[in-house]
Amino acid sequence: MKITVIGTGYVGLVTGTCLAEVGNDVLCLDLDPKKIETLKAGGIPIYEPGLEDMVQRNVAAGRLHFTTDIEESVAFGQIQFIAVGTPPDEDGSADLQYVVAAARNIGRHMDDYKLVVDKSTVPVGTADKVRAALAEELARRGAAIEFNVASNPEFLKEGAAVEDFMKPDRIVIGTDSERATQLLRQLYAPFQRNHERLRVMDVRSAELTKYAANAMLATRISFMNELAVLAEKLGADIEQVRHGIGSDPRIGYDFLYAGCGYGGSCFPKDVQALRRTGQENGVPLRVLDAVEEANDAQKQILVNKLVARFGNDLEGRRFAMWGLAFKPNTDDMREAPSRTMLDALWAMGASVSAYDPAAMDETRRIYGERADLQLVDSPMDALKGADALLIVTEWKVFRSPNFDTLKSLLKAPLIFDGRNLYEPRAMREMGFDYFPIGRP
Ligand code: UDX
Repeated sequence: MKITVIGTGYVGLVTGTCLAEVGNDVLCLDLDPKKIETLKAGGIPIYEPGLEDMVQRNVAAGRLHFTTDIEESVAFGQIQFIAVGTPPDEDGSADLQYVVAAARNIGRHMDDYKLVVDKSTVPVGTADKVRAALAEELARRGAAIEFNVASNPEFLKEGAAVEDFMKPDRIVIGTDSERATQLLRQLYAPFQRNHERLRVMDVRSAELTKYAANAMLATRISFMNELAVLAEKLGADIEQVRHGIGSDPRIGYDFLYAGCGYGGSCFPKDVQALRRTGQENGVPLRVLDAVEEANDAQKQILVNKLVARFGNDLEGRRFAMWGLAFKPNTDDMREAPSRTMLDALWAMGASVSAYDPAAMDETRRIYGERADLQLVDSPMDALKGADALLIVTEWKVFRSPNFDTLKSLLKAPLIFDGRNLYEPRAMREMGFDYFPIGRP
C-alpha cells in the first residue's frame, strides 16, 4: 500500500518505518529540512533502540522515502497519517494547530480519495475538526472528492517503540465508514499475529481510549507512590505489598512500581488534557486531579529526604545524580523527575555531578554550561567527593555497581534511591545509609 506519514517526530518516524518494514511504500513528510536531510542520510533525529537500522534497511530497499514537499506527500499515499506534535498550550489543553494545518494541506492538494488517520494523541472530537478543515478546503476549491477520517492512537513506549509497533497488544481503530475500516484492516493485517488484535470502534471511543489507557497507568503509579509514603511511616515494605496485590489477576504486576514520579511526553500531558476535557464537559475527573497532585509531590520526594538529612541550606554541597532521562533507554527529559530535583537542589545552593547513559547531550541542550552542574563520563566519576548519591532513572548499568568503589568515592556512604534498585538489607549490611522509596 502507499502511505504518507505527516510528521517525522517520535510517533511518525516509528509508524512510517515499521509500515515500510512489512513491505509498504512509505513517504514521510516533515517541514524541517534539517530533519529530512538527516533521515535521507540514514541518521535518525531521536534515540530509539533498533530504529536506525530499520530506517537504513528500508531506505536502502527503496520502500521508505522522506520529503519536505507537501504536494508530493499529499499525492503519494492513499492513506495519510497525521503524526504531528500536539504540544500543551497554556491552559493544558492540546494545541491542535499542526493537526488542523496538516488536514488543510491534504484538502488543498488532494485529487483522489484519501483516508486521513489521526495518529497523534488528540482530544476527543479532533477527528471532527480534521474532517471539517478538510471539507472546507475542498469546498473552497469547488472539488467534490471523497475522503474518510479515522483515529488510530498509538501505544508506543519510548525505548520499546519498534517492538510495540511490530508486536502490538491491540490496534485501536476508530472509523466513520466501512471503506476506512477495510483499508485499515488490510494495512494492519501483517501485525495481527496469532489472534485478532484489531479493535474497531467509533471515532470518539478510539480517541478516548488513548487517554483512558495513559490515565489508568498514571493512576496506578500515583496510587503506589502514595502508598509507598504511607508504608514508610508504618514500617511496611511497598515491594512486598506490590507482590501481595499483583498476584490478583484483576490487578496484575505491571506498572505498580513506586518511584520518584512519572515523567515523559505522554503521562503528564495526557492526564492534564483529560482533566481539561472533563472540566470543559462539566465532568470533573477528581481521581485524575489527585493523580497529578500526587505525582508533583512525588517528584520532590528524594529532595525532601535529602533535606531531612542535610537541612535546606545546601550551599557548598555536591550531590551525585545517576540518571537524567525520564526513564531508561531513552534520552528524553520531558517532564523528567531529574529536572524537578535539579531545580530544587540548585535553589538550595547545591551543585550536582550527573551521569546518564543517553541523555547527556539533551541535558547540555536544556541547561547549557553552568557552574553548579557537572556532566561526567561514567557513573563512578559522578561520585567523587559527593555528599550523597541520588538514583533517579533505573538504567541497567546502575543495577549492580561495585559497591566498594562506590563507597570509597562518596564522602559518606549515603544513597537516596528513587527507583528501588537494591535490597535494603544487603545495603545495610554493606554499611550504606540507604533510603529507597516505601521500604524500611
Ligand atoms: C507511555 C505508555 O506506556 C505508552 O503506552 C503510551 O503510548 C505513551 O506513554 P512512555 O511515556 O514511553 O509510554 O513511558 P512508560 O514506560 O509508560 O513510563 C512512563 C513513566 O512512568 C516513567 O517516568 C516511568 O519511570 C514511570 N513508571 C512506570 C513508574 O514510576 N512506575 C511504574 O511502575 C511504571
